[in-house]
Amino acid sequence: MLDSNRLDGKIALVTGAAGAIGAATVRLMIAHGARVVAVDRDREALRRLHDAFAAEPNLSTVEGDVTDEGSVAGFVARARELTGRIDIFFNNAGVEGPVRPIAEYPLEDFRRVLDVNVVGVFLGLKHVIPVMAAGGGGAVINTSSVAGLTGTPGICAYNASKHAVIGLTRSAAAEWGGRGIRVNSINPGPIASRMMTSLEEGLSPGHADQMRAQFSAMIPALRYGEPEEVAALVAFLASEDARYIHGAVFVLDGGFTVS
Ligand SMILES: NC(=O)c1ccc[n+]([C@@H]2O[C@H](COP(=O)([O-])OP(=O)(O)OC[C@H]3O[C@@H](n4cnc5c(N)ncnc54)[C@H](O)[C@@H]3O)[C@@H](O)[C@H]2O)c1
Repeated sequence: MLDSNRLDGKIALVTGAAGAIGAATVRLMIAHGARVVAVDRDREALRRLHDAFAAEPNLSTVEGDVTDEGSVAGFVARARELTGRIDIFFNNAGVEGPVRPIAEYPLEDFRRVLDVNVVGVFLGLKHVIPVMAAGGGGAVINTSSVAGLTGTPGICAYNASKHAVIGLTRSAAAEWGGRGIRVNSINPGPIASRMMTSLEEGLSPGHADQMRAQFSAMIPALRYGEPEEVAALVAFLASEDARYIHGAVFVLDGGFTVS
């Protein structure tokens, strides 16, 4: 059972905060006592997140684009201005890209997916970790995917990008472990969300429901995960309970990758 105060007083920066997993994590972190700076490039979605929390004093929303170094430096500086330090970084913004075989995959889309999912994660590490270190340490959680461990036809850019997130996680863990910074990746399987509906639709246009049923049947737990279940793992990895967990890859997939 989770201790509801276990992130008390912690300052968290979350990217992709207006999406399904980001918003569920923002909610859980605040419920556990953290102050959260929520970053997303989607202004409208960020406004809806802000409105959903009404006058929550522990939430600040900041518009930012993880692919743009000036923007990343800007939202990190803004977070520092608002809160003084960063203890937890949920490096989570990501895009799925289109579903196409490699031979037909547009280069422009391949570059766009890598730009958000790899360059974005790198820029987050580059700008947040020194701030974290200056504050005495902290916990970074990078969002990879089961697509970072396996290959799925039609999503080569997403697969490549999520494998790269594991590489960045290990690289950052090796560099910063001795300075009080823990870096781990989470690797969710299919989560009930807009992103999965988009992938289902891409794999079988007009038959997303059938794809979902097929995917669910391939998962030993016989269902997709929920964003709140991902949030619970992130909150644990951010907490003191996870103080010796570092450089690890956390699969959360209802058993999807067991065979
Ligand atoms: N949904 C799933 O089934 C699933 C499974 C495994 C991993 N993931 C990963 O989890 C993370 C969150 O996914 P989600 O399901 O919440 O998707 P989502 O589309 O609901 O949320 C992603 C958020 O990232 C934001 N974003 C995209 N590009 C950005 C940029 N350049 N700068 C700032 N923000 C940007 C979007 O506006 C969106 O709000 C992603 O990295 C995704 O790849 C998702």
